[in-house]
Amino acid sequence: MTVEARPATLARGREITVTGIDGAGKSTLAARLHQALNDAGHPSILIGKHSTAVPMDAELSAYLDRLNEVVYRRDTRVAQACGDHYWLLALAAWYTLQDKLVIQPALAAGTHVVLDNAHHKILARYAVNPGVSTRLAEQVFAHLTEPDLVIFLRVGAREALLRKGEFTSLETGHSGSGDEDFIRYQNTVLAQLQEQSEDGGWLSLDVTSMDRDTVFKTAAGTLADRLQLTI
Ligand SMILES: Nc1ncnc2c1ncn2[C@@H]1O[C@H](COP(=O)(O)OP(=O)(O)OP(=O)(O)O)[C@@H](O)[C@H]1O
Ligand SMILES: [Mg+2]
Repeated sequence: MTVEARPATLARGREITVTGIDGAGKSTLAARLHQALNDAGHPSILIGKHSTAVPMDAELSAYLDRLNEVVYRRDTRVAQACGDHYWLLALAAWYTLQDKLVIQPALAAGTHVVLDNAHHKILARYAVNPGVSTRLAEQVFAHLTEPDLVIFLRVGAREALLRKGEFTSLETGHSGSGDEDFIRYQNTVLAQLQEQSEDGGWLSLDVTSMDRDTVFKTAAGTLADRLQLTI
């Protein structure tokens, strides 16, 4: 009688997320990490605000696309009419579905997940918004999968503005349309993210004078040290 070898237990994938204020370089780093992981033979997916794919499920993908349209392709007048509580809950719905339909199944299948901009920046924006309870904002994201690594790209708002070049009203917290409005608002969001980072474990990088390559190499070093992922 032959004894079949038991399949090796599938190692769970790792979730890596990038946070920071608007223009900090999150999407740039997330895309580079995703590419490097796959190039090194570590299957991974990249999730950002344009992601709608639920693997092997056209119906759920179509549903996620409709939710993306509601949350991210919004008209300014509609956005203002709906108000802050509505947008908090809509964003929580988006993160909830990405987590349940895409992130959790990928991790369980051994695929790594790079999440461009987890909920931390949203939480920071609401924490500096006196019109919405911070406790409520914390609670609507509390059930999401805890990332294995949070990379916090720290850059002052003035430098972020130079990088971005232009910004929307949302990115000044609807406080005005001038550069100083962006800088004042983003620096309060940055201070709040800094507070969150003190709770533990984040890789907090001052990227003010780091070029894209140096940011990537520093993040890659931490993936190797903390997650044993060599890229
Ligand atoms: N280390 C860096 N040094 C200089 N410029 C950078 C660096 N990283 C990214 N950039 C540039 O800064 C701009 C903003 O980068 P990116 O879109 O990655 O930021 P983001 O944090 O995703 O912004 P948003 O919050 O608006 O999505 C882009 O033009 C990008 O090429
Ligand atoms: Mg981005």
